Amino acid sequence: MAGVIDLHCHILPRVDDGAGSLEESVEMAAAALASGTRAIAATPHVRDDWPTEAAVMEARVAEVRAALAEACLPLELLTGAELAFDRVGRLDGAELARLGLGGNPRYLLVEPPYVEWPLAFDRVVQDLAARGFVPVVAHPERNPEIQAEPERLRPLVLGGALAQVTAASVDGRLGRRARASAFELLDRGLAHIVASDAHSAGGRGVGLSAAAEAIGDEQLARWVTEDVPGAIVAGLPVPARPGRSVEPGRSRRRWAWRARA
Ligand SMILES: [Fe+2]
Repeated sequence: MAGVIDLHCHILPRVDDGAGSLEESVEMAAAALASGTRAIAATPHVRDDWPTEAAVMEARVAEVRAALAEACLPLELLTGAELAFDRVGRLDGAELARLGLGGNPRYLLVEPPYVEWPLAFDRVVQDLAARGFVPVVAHPERNPEIQAEPERLRPLVLGGALAQVTAASVDGRLGRRARASAFELLDRGLAHIVASDAHSAGGRGVGLSAAAEAIGDEQLARWVTEDVPGAIVAGLPVPARPGRSVEPGRSRRRWAWRARA
């Protein structure tokens, strides 16, 4: 599947803190298309305050697909979910597979806590990997512990996990710390996907083009917005990161000016 694919988006109506109506879902799709996105994975929260079940997610995806067809919007809508790490253990394998990212039953988008990085999170990610899933860590660059110590993520990546950074972190809309951290992770080979995590058509925004531009390296930008997401959706092996991989910390200076820009 060629083209930009957004693998983290709260586009489904009335399931979480994302789109509040079907009209808003269609608005988000139109804005995404206008910015060059061709497919979106619907990733509603699955956590204690929004315990979305796979059946509900699938029904809402069907509802939005019908609305997109009626509005003649050629955006491909895929299934998915954003699983709170402390909820994963309460879901059986079949339910987890139905919540797979972009419709791929092996990939699971897992949300870490926002304020700390407990060992329990690492254990959940490692357990999933041991069971044959590929955990995708959602927006680690927004976590203060990862901001202070990006290498905290490396054991999980070496264990088979991928990491998704949020477009608004990369392009600076979420502030300097998130931006600097996003570039650190990209630089160190600890980030594999850039996605919007959009909750509405405005605000954090649905497009990935500003983030792709901010990355400044066309090949790397394509890898995180097209190649890796495309491989996940197609069930193909994740392609190697383009360019020479950089030793941890080696090019920190090179990114420093970007983080300040
Ligand atoms: Fe999210």
